[in-house]
Amino acid sequence: RPRILSGMQPTQDSLHLGNYIGAMTQWVALQDDYDAFYMLADLHALTVNPDPAALRERTRRTAAQYLAGGLDPQRATLFAQSHIPEHAELAWVLSCITGYGEAGRMTQFKDKSAKRGSEGTTVGLFTYPVLMAADIILYDAALVPVGEDQRQHLELTRNLAERINARYGEDTAVVPEPHIVKSIAKIFDLQNPEAKMSKSIGGAKGTIWLLEDPKRAAKAIKSAVTDAGDTIAYDPAAKPGVSNLLSIYSALTGRDIQDIVTAYEGKQYGHLKVDLAEIVVDFLVPFQAKVDEYLSDPAELDAVLARGAARARETAAQTLGRVYDRVGLLAPA
Ligand code: TYM
Repeated sequence: RPRILSGMQPTQDSLHLGNYIGAMTQWVALQDDYDAFYMLADLHALTVNPDPAALRERTRRTAAQYLAGGLDPQRATLFAQSHIPEHAELAWVLSCITGYGEAGRMTQFKDKSAKRGSEGTTVGLFTYPVLMAADIILYDAALVPVGEDQRQHLELTRNLAERINARYGEDTAVVPEPHIVKSIAKIFDLQNPEAKMSKSIGGAKGTIWLLEDPKRAAKAIKSAVTDAGDTIAYDPAAKPGVSNLLSIYSALTGRDIQDIVTAYEGKQYGHLKVDLAEIVVDFLVPFQAKVDEYLSDPAELDAVLARGAARARETAAQTLGRVYDRVGLLAPA
């Protein structure tokens, strides 16, 4: 089975609906047909300099959300990035073939460093995409299911994999393809449907958190910014607000967007919002119950991650060994 790898950063207590719809639904759909590796990107989370206790707690909470979302440790390998030392080791090798300018062109880096200023911008923030490339290349991943915001990082990963192969031999690295499903790859902020729903800028009502009070989530849906006019139609350019609600509706029910549009013919935005609010609540309530159950047994959660790490390590060690050898590092006697 071809490999896939993906990950999320445990930078908040809760994932949001964009993470769930854009990434996790795909991860779940792919876990049977692929040899899937899904990690908690805890090393990446260090770039926001989290409080140590909070990071540990959030890493477990994110793991619980992976399980509650339908990732199955029997079918996929679930692990914490920091449990596999090869990630940081391969990242060093890759950083030595990444151009300074090339890394500087990453738009997420440019946005984040502009906000933080030069003293607040760390070297880790700069090399973040190189570590991400290492995550992917380490598992010979052919496919990487992510949201639209990761496309440029995937492009860098492909360039680095091709560069390794050109310099050190064609079969040194697998060149990965992004798996980005257009209709769900960018869920927008409910208050500002021009911006993606996000962990960092999620304002009071723009982001739906998977672990928030379902009543609050329902309110956020009902007060979502919609567009001028009153016809319910899927047209992301002209009607970004309504189209975003339709994408969420479709992702959570499995119904075709066109079906939904037809069902709401002649109805108003308000109808759609009331129904979607109910759909969101019906999704959140059982999800949160499962998360609570997984969190009630942290030792079992840690055991799941330990079993995942044991499996991940085998592949990671093999790939790193191959790369170290090809680049000319002397093997220990
Ligand atoms: P992160 O933690 O920001 O987001 C996790 C996943 O959720 C997707 N996503 C969205 N999808 C649709 N709509 C949105 N509004 C939305 N917001 C986020 C992201 O695209 C992502 O797929 N750098 C990565 C973590 C990472 C990684 C990797 C991913 C580290 N190593 C290796 C893939 C492969 C990140 O920060 O994702």
